[in-house]
Amino acid sequence: MKKVKTAIFPVAGLGTRFLPATKASPKEMLIVGDMPLIQHAVLEAVEAGIERFIFITSQGKTAIEDHFDRNKLLETFLEQRHKIADLEKIRRSQLQPGQAIFIRQQDPLGLGHAVWCARHLIQDEPFALLLADDLIISKTPCTKQLVDAYEANGSGNYAAVMEVAMADVSKYGILDIQQQTNNVMTANSVIEKPDPTTTPSRTAIVGRYILDPRVFNYIDTQKLGVGEEVQLTDAFNPMISQNIPFLGMLFEGERFDCGTKEGWLDANIAYAYKDPELKPRLLETLNKYTISN
Ligand code: G1P
Repeated sequence: MKKVKTAIFPVAGLGTRFLPATKASPKEMLIVGDMPLIQHAVLEAVEAGIERFIFITSQGKTAIEDHFDRNKLLETFLEQRHKIADLEKIRRSQLQPGQAIFIRQQDPLGLGHAVWCARHLIQDEPFALLLADDLIISKTPCTKQLVDAYEANGSGNYAAVMEVAMADVSKYGILDIQQQTNNVMTANSVIEKPDPTTTPSRTAIVGRYILDPRVFNYIDTQKLGVGEEVQLTDAFNPMISQNIPFLGMLFEGERFDCGTKEGWLDANIAYAYKDPELKPRLLETLNKYTISN
């Protein structure tokens, strides 16, 4: 079985749900805790054994490239002042030479199109796909949980899934479930953003995938789907017909949609609550505002 060593991070989106914060800086650089969202995603991938990081970017996203580069000026400054802990922090955000690849998505044509932009970089091996605005706080990193599911169940397309409210199914890719064993299920089909009146279930894809490299044969058609975009989800059904299964994995952990200010706020509160250094301060502040209300 081939190891999952490459991850794709689509970071070309305009972040319109979080304006004006994302007007001049990428939404993936929004901070949760002490790190930008994209670093949370990259570290999650590192913990799952990923060695090659492909970022699908667009204009105005150079801050992401800079974030994972060396910053020699800052390093020298911190070294001279013996700020070892701070040095360690910036080194954690540095990818090694040759590990990071940046490609531009020239047209905003959707997730399927973003993944397709990396087609010449993926050989015959499965790869991970992480959508950084979905932040997942869990004991075992979500991508590692997916890699384990892939190694236990064999080749196919995998996605982390969760139950969502009926009113929200039209925001996600939704599974028509065939059968489920423990936390892993196979799908008869997957439908992008269905109407609540016709949805086959409330089991929704969140932004973590392990994909079979043959997916490129299917997104190559560049057929437009819901929202006039090339939908990644639309590649899965013809693959299922060709006996390449689609598996959903109910993950352990909590997912926050940090592409919205509400989700981002929740994520910061959850993050601070789990951090022993920040927790007392969080409780103090919440208490203060609760009392004054
Ligand atoms: C994308 C996918 C969708 C998935 C979602 C998870 O949608 O197309 O299938 O459920 O991410 O966040 P988007 O959020 O880009 O509309």
